[in-house]
Amino acid sequence: MKNILITGGAGFIGSHLVRHFVGKYPDYRIVNLDALTYAGNLENLRDVETAPNYTFEKGDILDAALLARLFEKYRFEGVIHLAAESHVDRSITDPLAFVRTNVLGTVTLLHAAKTAWTGQFEGKRFYHVSTDEVYGSLGDEGFFTEETRYDPRSPYSASKASSDHFVRAYFHTYGLPVVLSNCSNNYGPNHFPEKLIPLVISNIRHEKPLPVYGDGLYTRDWLWVKDHASAIDAVFHRGRDGETYNIGGNNEWTNIALVEKLCDIMDELLGRPPGASRQLITFVKDRPGHDRRYAIDASKIREELGWLPSIRAEEGFRETARWYLDNEEWLLHVRSGAYQAYYDAQYGAH
Ligand code: NAD
Ligand code: TYD
Repeated sequence: MKNILITGGAGFIGSHLVRHFVGKYPDYRIVNLDALTYAGNLENLRDVETAPNYTFEKGDILDAALLARLFEKYRFEGVIHLAAESHVDRSITDPLAFVRTNVLGTVTLLHAAKTAWTGQFEGKRFYHVSTDEVYGSLGDEGFFTEETRYDPRSPYSASKASSDHFVRAYFHTYGLPVVLSNCSNNYGPNHFPEKLIPLVISNIRHEKPLPVYGDGLYTRDWLWVKDHASAIDAVFHRGRDGETYNIGGNNEWTNIALVEKLCDIMDELLGRPPGASRQLITFVKDRPGHDRRYAIDASKIREELGWLPSIRAEEGFRETARWYLDNEEWLLHVRSGAYQAYYDAQYGAH
């Protein structure tokens, strides 16, 4: 059995990635290391937790002694690193938390891998999952390529950019076999409701105001989260050492057009009159330093690894809305904080 460490596997993208790997690769043992911050929710992995090739370890990537023990215990052959503080608005109020986990945590993990693998880099792989936000903000034209100069503008993107630089430094300085990807905004089931799409779906459901920042003409490229998992699979297995791959959905929406689309889908699913939920749209104060537009040129991963997104936007948004309606309990637990008791109930307080 090949042991693979996934960090941040109880989060939004991490839980989809864990499920993808556990299901598709029965000859891998997937060890999920997660600190279970507010964003970590083991209820995301209920269907996976009894799989024979899955193990959960609760812990912090800043804990060097724990990482050394885990590398010793499991002799990992690969690391896929997702653990991070991920919300831009939180980074504006508490930048240091982002420096701690995203920068110091990543370096602590890199160092643990390098130390454990010294003299045996052959066949090993350290995969760092990053964001397109490191490239800064686009005007109306153009796309981010892998050559676009880094220009992070929020504490979140600055911390992710810094972590990307450290990953490349470990490649050039120590020869650690690394690979990176920078992905656009993800959406889908299990997305924490502080982010735009789940927040809007949940507020429509409960007929609460839908806060749209500024003029609503900010643009994001949205990718179905399961497509991100399949892209990570492709890069992990077939990407080249030291390389970066941009991942995107070729699916640009202004925030206001996206919110209107979600209103229309929800009206249909809830049997409300057409246009009813659009009345909830409320323009609110803008986010400071708000990046105007993100858009990804994903031709490298398409041409080199043959990866393509699998579903169309309309279908993905509808499936997401339906998931939130069908999983009211998940949302209730997140809102009440009950999901944080799940670890003790499932694993015992240890
Ligand atoms: P998330 O906030 O949903 O999950 C993060 C997970 O990391 C949580 O389970 C949390 O408990 C865990 N974690 C946080 N700090 C930790 C620490 N110090 N030690 C161990 N675990 C810790 O995030 P997400 O949206 O799933 O994003 C996952 C990764 O993908 C991040 O690195 C993020 O930068 C990147 N990314 C996200 C998006 C997106 O649209 N969400 C897009 C591109 C890249
Ligand atoms: P978000 O989901 O926070 O992702 P990111 O900032 O990483 O792109 O936000 C997506 C877009 O939606 C972004 O332009 C900010 C905007 N937004 C709102 O207009 N209202 C909201 O309540 C939130 C959370 C975001």
